[in-house]
Amino acid sequence: MNENHTQTALITGGASGIGAGVASLLHQRGFQVVIADINDEAGQALASELGDQARYVSLDVTSESSWQALMGQLDENVSVLVNNAGTGISASIEDTTLDDWQRIQDLNARGVFLGCRFAVAAMKQTGGSIINIASALGKKALSTTCAYSASKAAVISLTESTALHCAEQSYPVRCNAVLPGFIDTPLLRNNLQLSEDPEGMLAGFVGLHPVNRLGTIEEVAETVAFLAGDQCSFITGASISIDGAMTI
Ligand code: NAI
Repeated sequence: MNENHTQTALITGGASGIGAGVASLLHQRGFQVVIADINDEAGQALASELGDQARYVSLDVTSESSWQALMGQLDENVSVLVNNAGTGISASIEDTTLDDWQRIQDLNARGVFLGCRFAVAAMKQTGGSIINIASALGKKALSTTCAYSASKAAVISLTESTALHCAEQSYPVRCNAVLPGFIDTPLLRNNLQLSEDPEGMLAGFVGLHPVNRLGTIEEVAETVAFLAGDQCSFITGASISIDGAMTI
């Protein structure tokens, strides 16, 4: 993989939050970016805002046929795939319904599994970097993150298995995970506003991090951009914490 301006990066869930931040930074760094999401309006708006070398495609990461259709549409080689689409739920083992469990595993684990499978097939000849957005909560569960933590632990393990397979097969493909702590996103701010005690809730989130603050979208995006590039060519199968020491 070479550092040049023709590399294409595909970012799932790229229409908002961390994914939008990653798409914007990779675009700024000279990548052609493909924003893949189910939110057509927000995805198209971001692609228009970025301008040249950015486009939006509709993709439901949980659907195998949606991935097949996408790969059929792409003329260019994708050399970076950021499996970012995901969602959370705050519920304990007693409060999590089977439907909640399935919905979270489908988006967070099955979606990343399908993404990794398609990326390995697409990149094994030409090379590439797969970056999976897991979570600090995949390493250290809270009582209230039953389904979410399990799904993100699956992403960490899937990352290791994919990296090992590519290494054993001598494919020029690296696969790594990043594990953010609580990140200050518009979604998090909206959730705070919906709570009865926004300040108390924010203090609770901040207090989980020994550095005593939330992380930023830019801090996650910078780590993803590093993993996308050739400067870290010996890093594969890693789980990189971006969590202000939350999981120590
Ligand atoms: P967000 O809700 O702002 O963005 C998620 C994006 O995924 C949205 O654009 C949504 O339309 C898209 N999406 C949802 N279902 C989809 C599907 N089936 N197919 C394609 N796209 C779909 O979320 P945020 O906060 O930016 O999170 C992004 C990732 O980072 C998630 O995997 C999340 O678990 C992870 N993460 C987030 C943290 C945070 O504090 N915000 C902390 C640690 C990890």
